[in-house]
Amino acid sequence: MTKRRFLFLLSSARSGGNTEAMARTAAAALPPSVAQDWCDLTTATLPTFEDLRHGASYGPLSPIMANLADRTMQASDIVFVAPLYWYGLPAPAKLYLDHWSHWMRLPELGFKARMAGKRAWLIMAHAGSTEAEIAPARDGLRLATAYLGMVWGDTLLADANAPGDWQKDPQAQTMAPLFFAA
Ligand SMILES: Cc1cc2nc3c(=O)[nH]c(=O)nc-3n(C[C@H](O)[C@H](O)[C@H](O)COP(=O)(O)O)c2cc1C
Repeated sequence: MTKRRFLFLLSSARSGGNTEAMARTAAAALPPSVAQDWCDLTTATLPTFEDLRHGASYGPLSPIMANLADRTMQASDIVFVAPLYWYGLPAPAKLYLDHWSHWMRLPELGFKARMAGKRAWLIMAHAGSTEAEIAPARDGLRLATAYLGMVWGDTLLADANAPGDWQKDPQAQTMAPLFFAA
């Protein structure tokens, strides 16, 4: 069996917040045989996405984007570590997803074929939102990953506002160490 490799994509506009802390707790329960790759999308300086689908063709990837695409394709599991922002994903996570549209159109990458079968996960803090208010962000990500033939893992939620608050959410506390085992 091929070795599992988890890519954690951080997208909160603050480091060490609830979402990252929850993700680190969940990751600590992964067996040592599972490789972990942590990527902070907020400091990765992703370029603006340009839609060149129907005009000039896409050129080769810049070194930063080639590295990110490579890390994405190397992973067996992709974990979006994303607080709820305006009922959606934070801009860096959304921008990362938009770039998939470029990567899909580089034949030499074989991106779509290589993404099929990978597992997608979502770890998300929110401040008092209801299930109906969280659903658009979660379902949008689920549909985007399904578009590439990925398998949906699960969503780990915490009701938390200030950093550290997630520890006051008993369900998040219980679920975080079990999240990837489910
Ligand atoms: C720009 C922005 C938008 C937010 N929008 C929402 C929202 O739509 N719904 C919600 O429940 N919380 C919202 N929040 C609160 C955050 O989701 C919450 O504080 C969360 O704990 C932040 O996660 P972090 O500590 O990992 O950064 C928003 C926070 C910010 C900064």
